[in-house]
Amino acid sequence: MGMIKTAKEIKEITIMADMLTELILKSISWVKPGISTGELDRMIENEMKLMGVTGPCKGYHGFPCVSCLSVNSSVTHGIPDSRLLQDGDILDIDLVIERNGFFADCSRTIAVGNISAEAQRLITVTEECLFKGIKAAVPGNTLGDIGFAIQSHAESNGYSVVREYCGHFIGLEMHESPSVTNYGTPGTGEVLKPGMIFCIEPMINQGRRAITDRNWVTKTRDGKLSSRCEHMVLITEDGNKILTKHF
Ligand code: MF3
Ligand code: CO
Repeated sequence: MGMIKTAKEIKEITIMADMLTELILKSISWVKPGISTGELDRMIENEMKLMGVTGPCKGYHGFPCVSCLSVNSSVTHGIPDSRLLQDGDILDIDLVIERNGFFADCSRTIAVGNISAEAQRLITVTEECLFKGIKAAVPGNTLGDIGFAIQSHAESNGYSVVREYCGHFIGLEMHESPSVTNYGTPGTGEVLKPGMIFCIEPMINQGRRAITDRNWVTKTRDGKLSSRCEHMVLITEDGNKILTKHF
């Protein structure tokens, strides 16, 4: 799989990213205390059908649903179930769509009802980490520069960076190589060039970075909160373009 997309591929992938941006905004509007993550997943799957796209997470290494919905101490790819969301929860909505072999992927952690100031600070700093990573995603910089920007900001705020999962190139598959880690050393790793498209998706823990990971269930080991947000970014001649821009 080439790391540089053609103009036609960029056009098709951009269309998918636009559709996903609409879908994630709709999904966010459905979140309220008392709804289950399973019900949200059903609504999202129905919406995907109406849009004429599929959700490739469903069936991916046996993952059972179209959406990954991770609550509180759940780090990533939470399986939607009958658990009702409660006032004060934080919810990571992570969605991937596909049509005609083109993919888009985006994620966002949002508040369910009223959340604590500490939870809000975690979400805010995680978003700042993403945008610091995006700022470093320019031609001539490296993947290590992105990881370093994210890690520095998280750790200087007293948080830790999950290392077991990371971002990835994307477009003609859901996950393409290489990985886009949320930690790193400046000047190391792949040099960024126009036409690259990848997802930056910091997973930031309130406490320690250790996680437990078994049968899709990933949780912080210390039980504290974890937050993540993800954008698809296209490297351009003079910088980058966020393809899933909505925050
Ligand atoms: N959306 C996730 C990502 O950001 C991937 C989901 S894993 C799956 O890479 F198994 F649920 F598909
Ligand atoms: Co991703």
